[in-house]
Order: sequence, then C-alpha cells, then structure tokens
Amino acid sequence: MMLTLRIWRQQHANARGKFVTYQVKDVTPDMSFLEVLDVLNEDLTGRGEAPVAFDHDCREGICGSCGFLINGVAHGGQPGTTVCQLAMRFFKDGDKLTLEPWRARAFPVVRDLVVDRSAFDRIIQAGGFISAPTGSAPEASTILIPKEAADMAFDAGACIGCGACVAACPNAAAMLFTAAKLTHLNSLPQGQPQRDERTLGMVATMTGERFGSCTNYGECAVVCPKQIPLEFIGRMNRDLLRATVHRHREPLVVSGMAQYPFHEDEDAHVVRR
Ligand code: SF4
Ligand code: FES
Repeated sequence: MMLTLRIWRQQHANARGKFVTYQVKDVTPDMSFLEVLDVLNEDLTGRGEAPVAFDHDCREGICGSCGFLINGVAHGGQPGTTVCQLAMRFFKDGDKLTLEPWRARAFPVVRDLVVDRSAFDRIIQAGGFISAPTGSAPEASTILIPKEAADMAFDAGACIGCGACVAACPNAAAMLFTAAKLTHLNSLPQGQPQRDERTLGMVATMTGERFGSCTNYGECAVVCPKQIPLEFIGRMNRDLLRATVHRHREPLVVSGMAQYPFHEDEDAHVVRR
C-alpha cells in the first residue's frame, strides 16, 4: 500500500519547523510504523536529503524511547501499543497521516520527531530509587511481599517513561508518570524507609519542571501504552498528603522486625520482636 505522510521537520531546537509531505510506497501490513520511517529515510538519504529524526531503541515496547503523534493521537491510538509496535495493518492504502513530536513545554523539540524528555530523568533522580541493601538474588526472597503489594508494584513498574501521557494531556501534566514511579516503590517494603522523602522530592521536582497540573481529563490513561490506571494518581495524592502531615506513620514490618524511618522521630529505632 501507499501512504502520504505529513511530517514535522525542524532542524534544531531554535529553528522554525514546518510540515513536509512525503509519499511512501511498498508499505506492507506487517511492517511497524518505525519501519515505514526507515523506508522513507533510506529513500531520503539516497536522494541526498536529511532523514527524518525519530527516537527508538528496543522496538518492542519496553524501552520508552519511541513516540510521536499520529493524526494527533499519541502512539497512534491502538490500545496498549507503542508506535514501534504499531503494525501497518491498522492503516489502509492511500491513508494520509500527520506525524508530529510530543507537544509540551516541558518536552522541547530537539529535531523533527525527537523531543528532550530529560525532565522525566530529573523527576526520577529526585527519588526513584531505594537505598535498602537488597543483597544477592536469593536474598531477595527473604523479605516477604504481600501479593497485593507485589502486583501493584509490578503494574506501576510497567511505565516505560515514553511521555505519551504528557503529550495527550490538555495541561501537559506529568502526574500519571510520576504517580506510576511513586506507586512502584511506595508499594514495596523496601521502599518504605524513604517513602515520604521520595514522594515530596518527586512531586516537588515535577512541579518545578514545566509540566501543567492535573484537572482529571483522563486522556493520559487512555493513550498510555502500558495502561497505567488513573487510580495511581489518587495514590500519589494520598501519599503526598501523608508525607506532608503524617509524622507518625505505621511501622514497616520486615521478617519479624519493626523498622521506623530514620528521619521521622527523634528516637528512631529498630525494634526486634
Ligand atoms: S504513564 Fe504510560 S504514557 Fe506515561 S510515561 Fe509511563 S508508560 Fe508512557
Ligand atoms: S523503541 Fe522501545 S518502546 Fe518503542
């Protein structure tokens, strides 16, 4: 089949961008969307023109590198699908498609379809880690994790940091991403000692970046290729309230040991039972 692609071309962050229209022939239904761009780029390079820049790495929906708007929809609108996994069987011969980079103040365009998502990295740096010694792989099983908490952490940990949620949100808010990262670690026993600092740090960094605020549109969850639920934003808000006002939170119980966060009380201590 043949497609007409109207693609945003912008040489660098400070250049003026514009849409340029290209025809791509010999597209087959089992090609991915990125493979179509590969075909286009081979053609452009052969003609001595600059290829279209786009981010990619794994091409199997796990790294979060790829992503752009296809006809205004982040990742193209197939549920649970990144643009690298988007097969051309969802399109038809003669389709006219408009490709644009994520449009958000916090994600400035680097070139063509590539945006700078380092604001996400700064949110992670503000608390997306644990400092508990986890030991070697067999020792990981010595801390028992309730099934519900493990499932919650697993679901939240599925976020690949692609940025589609920000691109889809009318406010360009990063709440779904930040909520997923917080829920991942705040659900686990190993994440409890730094739960408050993590929540306060990541939310403050998110607020300090140029993201908007959540006003419950819910567009983020609709386009999320990992189907991160809106419910996690509620969890983040509860954790934020807890971190702000709740100085005497419940103890963490690990293998018969009650451990209180070191920063919380003057007499922070570890009690062996
Ligand atoms: S929450 Fe979903 S859309 Fe947002 S960065 Fe994570 S995977 Fe991408
Ligand atoms: S290239 Fe890795 S998620 Fe698409």
